[in-house]
Amino acid sequence: MKIAILSRNENLYSTKRLKEACLLRGHEVDIIDTLHCYMDITSARPAVRYHGKELPKYDAIIPRIGASVTFYGTAVARQFEMMGTFNVNESVAISRSRDKLRSLQLLSRKGIGLPRTGFASKPDNIKDLIKNVGGAPVVIKLLEGTQGIGVVLADTAKAAESIIEAFMGLKANILVQEFIKEAGGADIRCLVIGGRVVAAMKRQGAEGEFRSNLHRGGSAEVVRLSKEERATAIAAAKAMGLNCCGVDLLRSHNGPMVMEVNSSPGLEGIEKATGLDVAGKLIEFIEKNAKENANKTRGKG
Ligand SMILES: Nc1ncnc2c1ncn2[C@@H]1O[C@H](COP(=O)(O)OP(=O)(O)OP(=O)(O)O)[C@@H](O)[C@H]1O
Ligand SMILES: [Mg+2]
Repeated sequence: MKIAILSRNENLYSTKRLKEACLLRGHEVDIIDTLHCYMDITSARPAVRYHGKELPKYDAIIPRIGASVTFYGTAVARQFEMMGTFNVNESVAISRSRDKLRSLQLLSRKGIGLPRTGFASKPDNIKDLIKNVGGAPVVIKLLEGTQGIGVVLADTAKAAESIIEAFMGLKANILVQEFIKEAGGADIRCLVIGGRVVAAMKRQGAEGEFRSNLHRGGSAEVVRLSKEERATAIAAAKAMGLNCCGVDLLRSHNGPMVMEVNSSPGLEGIEKATGLDVAGKLIEFIEKNAKENANKTRGKG
């Protein structure tokens, strides 16, 4: 098959591993810098141009679209969909996953376990906002945060109020969330491909740290999932409409709770922690599913 990886950087671990997995399985593969693609969106015959030429017809594209290029990246992916090219993660699903509020609302309507979460722009009653998610301690998150930055634990209602007021003063969008203490500073990353969990790892925060992010000094190890955890991860991927994603779970007294669904999950941490060939599993999925016009939305948006 002829496969294109949409990625800004061919030297990233995940991009390199996906390319390797394609070649190992006898496929042709091109790495395409998403931002360098351009197109005539009014043309009756949709195409994507790159370095002065029309790109060839691919059997599948693998979008690896970073958060900072979501807007343009999803437009490029959509153009491929309009051409009938199989896109592993459809542009609409990527857009959904990039909006934290939209994602939580979609998961909630499917009855998937979530930490009690409130969101607000200019709440007229901050005390009630805190009370509404069960009271202190609460976790306050900046909507634009990543790698654990902008995620704060407020032990008391007073502290929570001050932090919320401070964020509001900076005009930041925030989430206020029930603190799942029993997770013990750990979370579970499940890699879901084609409706199956193909790998899972437990990330444990450094001593005295409630955030498990590897960037914050956390460590990762293989973990065995319970049936319920597996089912939750699969249901979350389905609710978002993603064929390939990372689902982050917290282990709570009330069962697994989804924190986030990531549509461009990094492969380095999970492959190194589990020793599994996750890149190979994605190519295998493409081999089985990449048919012309097989995407559900095909650019409908
Ligand atoms: N409600 C919560 N209860 C307990 N621990 C939490 C809660 N929310 C977050 N954490 C811990 O904090 C870490 C960081 O939170 P989160 O993943 O929401 O933000 P982020 O990593 O900065 O954002 P993103 O995952 O979107 O890049 C989580 O991995 C988890 O260990
Ligand atoms: Mg996270």
